[in-house]
Amino acid sequence: MLTSVIKVDSQNPNTAFLKDAGEIIKKGGLVAFPTETVYGLGGDAVNPDSSKKIYAAKGRPSDNPLIVHIADFAQLESIVSEVPEAARILAKEFWPGPLTMILKKNEVVPYETTGGLDTVAIRMPSHPVALALIRESGCMIAAPSANTSGRPSPTEADHVYEDLNGRIDCILDGGKVAIGLESTIVDLTDSEPVVLRPGFITVEQIKDVLGQASLDPGIIASDSKIAPKAPGMKYRHYAPKGQITIVSGEDEKVRAYMLDAITSAINQGKKVGLITTDSSVEWPAGTEVKMIGDRADEEAIAANLFGILRDFDRSECELIYSEELRTPRIGTAIMNRLLKAAGHNVVNV
Ligand code: TXA
Ligand code: MG
Repeated sequence: MLTSVIKVDSQNPNTAFLKDAGEIIKKGGLVAFPTETVYGLGGDAVNPDSSKKIYAAKGRPSDNPLIVHIADFAQLESIVSEVPEAARILAKEFWPGPLTMILKKNEVVPYETTGGLDTVAIRMPSHPVALALIRESGCMIAAPSANTSGRPSPTEADHVYEDLNGRIDCILDGGKVAIGLESTIVDLTDSEPVVLRPGFITVEQIKDVLGQASLDPGIIASDSKIAPKAPGMKYRHYAPKGQITIVSGEDEKVRAYMLDAITSAINQGKKVGLITTDSSVEWPAGTEVKMIGDRADEEAIAANLFGILRDFDRSECELIYSEELRTPRIGTAIMNRLLKAAGHNVVNV
């Protein structure tokens, strides 16, 4: 299959291109598109064949459900069996935006889209290209992140091309995304809202508007004793081919440990990568140093993480060291992705 790549103006998407892309979705094809979080791989959410194609293109296990992207609230009402008050409140506060809600589905949504579950994940993205594509297609769009299963989510169209060229119809290239971490997922099917995947919108923000909310304990657990509730969160994810070691402790000790470890690895002829926020250190020659962003700028750190993990694969780094990236607001989300990428390999110094 030939994959066409079309450059679109993120703020002012050209309607002719969007119409063509919408036609592809309508006819059961697949289009990758930018959202404010990461690129998505879209297909018609109520067409079971489209969902099957999405799983095949990504190599994704079929028990891992997709998120249905909508452009107005009436679309949500058309695919759920009931609309809890909490959903209305959250939509008013955070939509369009980086929040996904889990609700009870009705018969409109096929099990192919929900991975066999009786619940459905729904999100109204804020990216103008995403919204225009949903409107032009006349469909609700099922879209997982547009990466090969297991790889870091794509934050640029090039990342999508790298993974899915030849496997999908079209990529809409809207440049680098703004947030760089996938949406916060909140489950509203129980009496208390539970965040299944931390993201740019925090548990505290949800608690502020709903009065209650907690983080799924399976997300915080460093071992596999408590299984996460979102099927996708149990899979190995984001991992580059090289082994990541997160070094935790006081700055000075972290620096000393890393200098030592990197020096000896390079002496053994290994290719070594480093994720750091500290530009004041001189690292051993040959280290692939990635300045992820200033420690005070957590949004830059979030936006750069997945791209950096992909860079390490391109340069075939075997060992990767990273600082802990515990930033104040979205640190939970950033560390959730980094810990998964590292297989929870943390050294305390
Ligand atoms: O920011 C995002 O959410 C991006 C963009 C494209 O919108 N999409 C995304 O989709 O990250 P994906 O498929 O990579 O991640 C969806 C996650 C998976 O962990 C999946 O298991 C979970 O949502 N999920 C989907 N439906 C669910 C359901 N009914 N119950 C529990 N978890 C669900
Ligand atoms: Mg994904």
